Amino acid sequence: MASDRGHTLGVVSESPWSDLDRPPLRAAQLNRDPGRLGALWNSVDVVVETGSTNSDLADLATKGVPQGAVLIAEEQTHGKGRLDRTWSAPARSGIFVSALLRPSDAGVPRDNWSWIPLLVGVAASTALSRAAETPVRLKWPNDLLVTVGEEERKLGGILTELADNGRAVIAGVGVNVSLRENELPVPTAGSLALAGAPVTDREILLRELLRTLSELYEEWCADGGDPTATRLREAYLSQCATIGKHVRVLLPGDTQVVGEAVDVDDLGRLVLREPSGAEHAVSAGDVIHVRGV
Ligand code: BTN
Repeated sequence: MASDRGHTLGVVSESPWSDLDRPPLRAAQLNRDPGRLGALWNSVDVVVETGSTNSDLADLATKGVPQGAVLIAEEQTHGKGRLDRTWSAPARSGIFVSALLRPSDAGVPRDNWSWIPLLVGVAASTALSRAAETPVRLKWPNDLLVTVGEEERKLGGILTELADNGRAVIAGVGVNVSLRENELPVPTAGSLALAGAPVTDREILLRELLRTLSELYEEWCADGGDPTATRLREAYLSQCATIGKHVRVLLPGDTQVVGEAVDVDDLGRLVLREPSGAEHAVSAGDVIHVRGV
């Protein structure tokens, strides 16, 4: 989602009230009693503008801030996406939120940390489907999808990063809420508004997202991060639109593989069955859904 269009709009529309479709978040309401938004959270901060909520929380993690801090921005000037891309959107047009997690505090072994990006994806698709009253699905690993007209479009995405010398994980979620067709960074992007969602109030969406993420994460930690015991794997497979599709995966380094997406393995990798019948797992890349099987 590389575009600086959103930033330009943000500069033109200086007053938060100049776009009535995009009211500001009520920061005081969200900050008050973070525990009500989920047992995991101990601080929720809302800022009008920052570079990247992920980068800000990574800095705080390095300073020793404990697990459970949440940072929400009304606008990001240097938002980051997966695979070294940028993430940009007009002020107050979406959700830009990051959370600081410390899975080792709960004794989750490193081998299971690869499930965190998928867990955050399940939390986001579950919460948004419920709160926006619109079906939201996942494209492996964690792109959020909605249907606009007949088309599957990218509604949002998740960027998880290690911080504090690998001791913390920053989980960032970006969701296009009120973006209009002429504001989309790429034609394959969508928004809740374009998908015809009856609910687009960002505060309602954020509350449900934080509540669901807290619940899923605490359950996963209680099961030592085992994706099968905690039924995370099952939930992921049921929400992932990639499974059962013929896909092309563009791998880092300009190579690609094609095949049928048949499963997600114990490490959260996508298992592809190639035309030869051979199966192999990919751990990173851009998936293109070619067609259903
Ligand atoms: C993707 O490329 O699909 C992931 C996009 C993640 C964007 C979010 S917005 C909040 C958080 N802060 C960032 O800089 N990025 C993530």
